[in-house]
Amino acid sequence: MCGVVAVVGKQNATQLVIEGLRKLEYRGYDSAGIASMSNGTLRTIKSEGKLYKLIDKSNEISNDKLHFDNSIAIGHTRWATHGNISVENAHPLTSENKIAVVHNGIIENYEILKNELISEGYDFISQTDTEILPHLFMKYIKLGNDFLEAGRLVLKDIRGAFAFVAMSLDFPNQLFASRNSSPLAIGLGEKSNFIGSDAHSIDHLTQRIIYLEDGDHALIKSDELEIFTKDKVKVNRKVINIKAELGLITKGGYKHFMEKEIFEQPSVIPQTTSTLIKNNSEITIDIDRLGFENKNTLLISAAGTSYYAGMVGKYWIEQIADLPVIVDLASEYRYRKPSVFGQSSMLVISQSGESLDTLMALRHGKELGLITNAIVNVEGSTIDREVDNSLYTKVGAEIGVASTKSFTSQLVILFLIAVALGKKFNNVKPRKIKEICSYINKLPSAIAQMLRIEDEIKLIAQNIKNAKSIIFLGRGLLYPLALEGALKLKEISYIHAEGFAAGEMKHGPIALIEDNVPVVMFLISDGNEDKSISNLQEAHSRGAKIILIADKKCIEKATFAHLKIEIPFFETDFKSLLSPFLMAIPAQLLAYHVANERGTDVDQPRNLAKSVTVE
Ligand code: M6R
Repeated sequence: MCGVVAVVGKQNATQLVIEGLRKLEYRGYDSAGIASMSNGTLRTIKSEGKLYKLIDKSNEISNDKLHFDNSIAIGHTRWATHGNISVENAHPLTSENKIAVVHNGIIENYEILKNELISEGYDFISQTDTEILPHLFMKYIKLGNDFLEAGRLVLKDIRGAFAFVAMSLDFPNQLFASRNSSPLAIGLGEKSNFIGSDAHSIDHLTQRIIYLEDGDHALIKSDELEIFTKDKVKVNRKVINIKAELGLITKGGYKHFMEKEIFEQPSVIPQTTSTLIKNNSEITIDIDRLGFENKNTLLISAAGTSYYAGMVGKYWIEQIADLPVIVDLASEYRYRKPSVFGQSSMLVISQSGESLDTLMALRHGKELGLITNAIVNVEGSTIDREVDNSLYTKVGAEIGVASTKSFTSQLVILFLIAVALGKKFNNVKPRKIKEICSYINKLPSAIAQMLRIEDEIKLIAQNIKNAKSIIFLGRGLLYPLALEGALKLKEISYIHAEGFAAGEMKHGPIALIEDNVPVVMFLISDGNEDKSISNLQEAHSRGAKIILIADKKCIEKATFAHLKIEIPFFETDFKSLLSPFLMAIPAQLLAYHVANERGTDVDQPRNLAKSVTVE
């Protein structure tokens, strides 16, 4: 993961780099650092922990010392892979205090290179894979190569998925950058140029962006930019004009971004549907274009919450369109030799559009000849740029590490795809389409009603906040919700939680039940509720603390539940078909309030990052 930013040709470059880093903390927040050059001196400031610590440190240093006037600087925000979280392992990593490098990704063959460099007399102060980069630059510069040639020799040596930027006192107005699988954008300014892990990180400096392609390397000066392919062929990459984001996004009075994003759902879902539903009754998704001229199997691939959205999508598409769907974890799909028998189309789902696992799965699917489609939130992200067709969730920036509004908006698009497929293959009658569109139009108000159970959820959160382990159960459309509820809870509250298909409990997981273990079930009367209530009963008999969030009918049946929340009334067809939307809200609120009770860092939970760009 990690975020990199660089500026060349603009005064006060360190400040401008810090502005960029603020927008990249979603890529990691274990440590941060900057390096700048002025009058033959390289100055590096690094700090463990979040960016504000680096800012404090850099302010103290600037107050203490004479103003360090600089027009070239690089910066980094880290998500630790190799080496613990420490100042030594923070980037930039340097060589002989003359070369500095910031890096995102993993250099896979670093150990061999490190041993070689040690035997040649280079000292290593960190445990990172990155530190070989400044030393390799140093080695090749000492051999008489210019910066570009030195960079090319470094690239020849290294293997892995990476994006990095290097600067050297010997070449004071130059930056060398390269990418392979990790993203890197170059911004074009007036007598200045910029580099960032994404376009947003440099949109305070320019709106003219070039995305480097895989294998590209570039030499960037204040007044010149040269880009080369991996075969050293000079190329012109397309310049894209991006819209600048409206400054920094605020919490809008909420305590955390996650809370704000949960409560935004009723207002952002109409943005998702705005271009996908016409005249309140027509779904505009072009199914043929997605690769469904004929009835084939759909392959869905994604990670984390997006994967669980995909699982819900499978249930809907099979039920509504009678089309087979395979849902594959992106991190697994990539390293298998999957059969594409009966498949024509792949759908990847990613909020960020940058998850490396999902990107690699997409490329794998492409190589296997599938038409590739994406449900993505960040327009212009790598997945968006590489896929054949994108469907945008349009929910605005999601800052909290825990996905909330992206999940429900992904569900909206999956549901619409299911209905559009159903229409194409004559499984859904035109009259029914109108009714279904009316359901989707009712969603924002249904979610708003669900949000009103927040106070009751808070009481449950207080009751279970000290549990060692929590189990979530669900059946049918609510099975993926059990998985999502458990993921959400564990990632932000650090309580161990697992989701299971209700019917699977008796095949093993029931052994986990002991006195007072909380078992949470989201339940809707959809015709299968009695089976689920029996599964709950089995846990109850073994001492579990039963927490039921359900409609009136189910609450009345499961009289044995210890804690019950009755959800508002929704008509039968609506609630059984759209139950994943309704139950996403208590799943999110429960995780949020348990975490809040425990005082964890809700928006930036430990060990995580918003965008996971390593494998
Ligand atoms: O950006 P993506 O949707 O590709 O991210 C996938 C997962 O990393 C993400 O959903 C993760 O599981 C969330 N932190 C869960 O809340």
